[in-house]
Amino acid sequence: MKRDFLHITDLTRDEIHEVLELSARLKKEVQKGSPHLLLQGKTLAMIFQKPSARTRVSFEAGMYQLGGHALYLGPADIGLGKREAVKDIARLLSCYNDLIMARVFDHEHILELAQHATVSVINGLTDFNHPCQVMADIFTVLEHRGHLDDLKITFVGDGNNVFHSWLFLAQRLPMEIVLACPEGYEPDEELVEATRAEGVSQVNISHDAREAVRGADVVYTDVWTSMGQEEEVEERKRIFQPFQVNSDLMKSAGDQAFFMHCLPAHRGDEVTDEVIDGPQSIVFDEAENRLHVQKAIMVTLSG
Ligand code: CP
Ligand code: NVA
Repeated sequence: MKRDFLHITDLTRDEIHEVLELSARLKKEVQKGSPHLLLQGKTLAMIFQKPSARTRVSFEAGMYQLGGHALYLGPADIGLGKREAVKDIARLLSCYNDLIMARVFDHEHILELAQHATVSVINGLTDFNHPCQVMADIFTVLEHRGHLDDLKITFVGDGNNVFHSWLFLAQRLPMEIVLACPEGYEPDEELVEATRAEGVSQVNISHDAREAVRGADVVYTDVWTSMGQEEEVEERKRIFQPFQVNSDLMKSAGDQAFFMHCLPAHRGDEVTDEVIDGPQSIVFDEAENRLHVQKAIMVTLSG
């Protein structure tokens, strides 16, 4: 039975811990310069309907380090759902490849790919979620704190795809998760309810950033306008202004708080230079960890 990684909840709590342990091992191999050819001779097809720096480069470099090969298929290459039906692409790519990773707009498309592919499908971001990102994020938190006990994460900004993946994670690992967002930019209600119903974590939605960050271990933000929402950019800039992560807000959080951002950042909008370049920021460790964690995910799915 092939396994997909479309949502963090595709892994059990124990499997999440195993992926984090494997990520740490693989990171050490890279640091020592030791070969770790766990996917020798395997290929990964990477479908991108949207731009990417981190996801593309970390998957491609990661696959090479594991002894395999990755193929980039950009928006103009296969015309997912336009030149060819999603299910036909899924079957086709399964003929040539051992793994498929896809970044798509419509979440239904990743579900359809996974349904029809005979090889494992990995979600490289959809309009709904971004599981690889948040697996790398929690690995980074673990590295910096040394443990995941009594964790408070405050996400400041849009209740978007990245926040949704934090909710999925909160269904598996205990944490206090708070979103501080403008009214009207709350996350998917069903997902919030499902996360609360799991009874693992405490979920709070607030409209007061200053109050929400108090005592947080992590102050996390993301762009105000996600890929595909470009028409709303001006309106969002205005509405999200009180939710900028600046030195003042970090002061309300406290010295213990790390600053995280999935990147790319829009400096001067959701975060100031002072914060992202400041001593509490761990954004480039976070970005580096995409590599190690995704390698661990690919190895895990490959059995
Ligand atoms: N964080 C992230 O996924 O970055 P890219 O969009 O550059 O891949
Ligand atoms: N929310 C952002 C994340 C980018 C990695 C977007 O979807 O554009």
